[in-house]
Amino acid sequence: MKNPVSGFSKLTKTEKINWLTTHYFEGNISAKNTLEQYWNTNLSLQKLHDDFIENTISNYYLPLGVAPNFLINDTLYTIPMVIEESSVVAAASNAAKFWLEKGGFKAEIISTTKNGQVHFNYFGNFNDLQTFFNETKPALISGIETLQTNMKKRGGGLIDITLVDSTKKLEGYYQLHCTFETLDAMGANFINSCLETIATIFESKTQEYTPFKISEKTPEIVMSILSNFVPECTVKASVSCPVESLTVGKISGQVFAEKLTRAVAIAKAEPRRAVTHNKGIMNGVDAVILATGNDFRAVEAGVHAFAAKNGNYSSLTHAAIENGIFTFWIELPLALGTVGGLTSLHPLVKFAFDLLQKPNAKELMKIVAVAGLAQNFAALKSLVTTGIQKGHMKMHLMNILNGLNATSTEKEQAIEHYKTNPVSHSNVVTFISNLRDIK
Ligand code: HMG
Repeated sequence: MKNPVSGFSKLTKTEKINWLTTHYFEGNISAKNTLEQYWNTNLSLQKLHDDFIENTISNYYLPLGVAPNFLINDTLYTIPMVIEESSVVAAASNAAKFWLEKGGFKAEIISTTKNGQVHFNYFGNFNDLQTFFNETKPALISGIETLQTNMKKRGGGLIDITLVDSTKKLEGYYQLHCTFETLDAMGANFINSCLETIATIFESKTQEYTPFKISEKTPEIVMSILSNFVPECTVKASVSCPVESLTVGKISGQVFAEKLTRAVAIAKAEPRRAVTHNKGIMNGVDAVILATGNDFRAVEAGVHAFAAKNGNYSSLTHAAIENGIFTFWIELPLALGTVGGLTSLHPLVKFAFDLLQKPNAKELMKIVAVAGLAQNFAALKSLVTTGIQKGHMKMHLMNILNGLNATSTEKEQAIEHYKTNPVSHSNVVTFISNLRDIK
């Protein structure tokens, strides 16, 4: 039985580690060494990372890879990707190369509106509430004028506030639904500050409103927060080419296009398949979101809600063959930032933006959507031709070898051997133990 701790947050980093080693590792120094070997010797860089979150004890590395040859709207990109899973970067690169020769990817912004809500209770007459809202709305808007100054100068800010009756979903539940344009900022802080100010003004005005006083039914604020469901902030990415140029190995373009289109149709019809299909898309999306210091949890939550927007969880990608032309596309809700947050703090995020030729938020939305589409194309290409394991295990070989503590000579021999033999964990174990037996 472990003891709880009080005041842990006030301890120094060393004290925190000592507490952990004593309580969870029986004082074993190796746990401490594991944490310390990931500390950065550049103390100011370490301090920067320590300050990103709370109770920091070490750095948790993920690999940063790059996928070259992405032609997007006639601009060539090398896309940075942060991910732990082997074969994802290779798959993205593979799809980029495949489409490079066919005109590349097209991407367009559909909309950029973000939203947030003041959620409140009200059990009185709706007409009183509607009249109150209509009278109070100008004060709600002018009340956030100071907060909006800079955003407005740049061309963004609050778009509108509407009163939403949600009582059919939940008794007495209403919202002030607020829409925003936040330009190159993801906008979470801006939106939340505006919402909280709007809520405060709304609440104070309710106290002065006679019909509420008479009926003794006054709106009561529950909470104010942005929404990560952003179906009005979307981007479309697509690829397209004549079916005959889609030949893959010995498989004709027609057969490949039909199989891939069918695979997408299955993901549209069957949620069990759609979840895995979309997971493959998020391999690409999340990797770029992480590399560019954006909030992948917000994007994940919003994207999956979008995938279920018609009542059934379904494919995020679409495919069609019309008049001999194959088209494959994705529409994604993405609220991304290229300013604020980690974007100017994390040196590798700065590197990622430089590599991407300093995109604005709209350009980043396009790049991320393309990464998702490419990832899905590569996975489907494997699934409907060789099967996924061949390529995946080929890329996973090094992880298996590292897990077996293979020496560099053993690795070289294994890489040579597996150029022509299928990789599986058990046969790599046998291969390495055979090599060791020969010695
Ligand atoms: P391949 O055809 O054997 O590759 O594909 P290749 O050796 O002929 O090389 C062709 C190109 O592929 C290279 O061009 C690279 O662009 C890329 P080059 O650089 O030579 O000019 N490529 C690589 N890039 C970097 N490092 C490498 C590398 N190898 C090839 N080592 C590949 C091999 C793995 C790319 C292919 O089989 C593939 O795309 N497989 C799909 C892998 C995948 O989707 N992985 C994601 C994990 S599985 C998953 O989570 C999702 C899933 O469940 C989703 C779903 O069900 O829909 C599958």
